[in-house]
Amino acid sequence: ENDILSNLPLKGKKVLLTAGPTYEAIDPVRFIGNHSSGKMGFAIAKAAANLGAEVFLISGPSHQKISHSLVKRIDVVSAEDMYNAAHSYFADVDIAILSAAVADYKPKNIATQKIKKKDATLDIELTPTKDILASLGAIKKQQFLVGFALETNNELENAKGKLKRKNLDAIVLNSLQDKGAGFATDTNKVTVIDKDLNEKSFQLKSKVEVAKDIMNEIVVRILK
Ligand code: CTP
Ligand code: CA
Repeated sequence: ENDILSNLPLKGKKVLLTAGPTYEAIDPVRFIGNHSSGKMGFAIAKAAANLGAEVFLISGPSHQKISHSLVKRIDVVSAEDMYNAAHSYFADVDIAILSAAVADYKPKNIATQKIKKKDATLDIELTPTKDILASLGAIKKQQFLVGFALETNNELENAKGKLKRKNLDAIVLNSLQDKGAGFATDTNKVTVIDKDLNEKSFQLKSKVEVAKDIMNEIVVRILK
């Protein structure tokens, strides 16, 4: 039916998103970060809002901008901040998509004063951050939970391992094989794998188009 509402399949639904990098403090002026731009996550936020969903976009430090009446942006810095924010919204959402490039390790101790240069080498002891996605997978109820996987080798196998281990409904594999896909670019090439191991590979395209493809894969699964 050509009802206007058919264009808003996610009206009344809530979506949690994580996007961008995290910064892990070393001392008051330094951090460990990564090159994630947040572009993919912000594009998904917009695509979800354009389908009528109310979106909670939890973003690490990013220059991306978004203005949409259905998107609430929550800015965070560290993996721990992102973990806490994600857990505070998760219980209430229908869909959670974790696209952030979360640091896997953080300095074990944060120096309270700026570290001065003195020796020929400097060791910084690191300790693992909490895995936000796995922690949500362990407590999920109604939520359709989607993760991302960034792999350089054994891509499909590794992505499927994450899908299972983190109890996801689907995982989006970023193909770094292709030039023009990944961090800081405007384009991406992805394969979506669902929990029944159905795979769908998409062409290299703009992140805006990739975001629509990803949302489409989610919508057909939650509305069926
Ligand atoms: N993720 C997360 N919290 C972390 C680390 C990762 O929520 N502390 C999420 C990412 O947002 C992504 C998924 O887990 O959706 C996979 O991230 P990725 O870095 O590809 O995998 P890891 O499980 O961290 O394993 P590795 O980096 O060793 O491949
Ligand atoms: Ca990682």
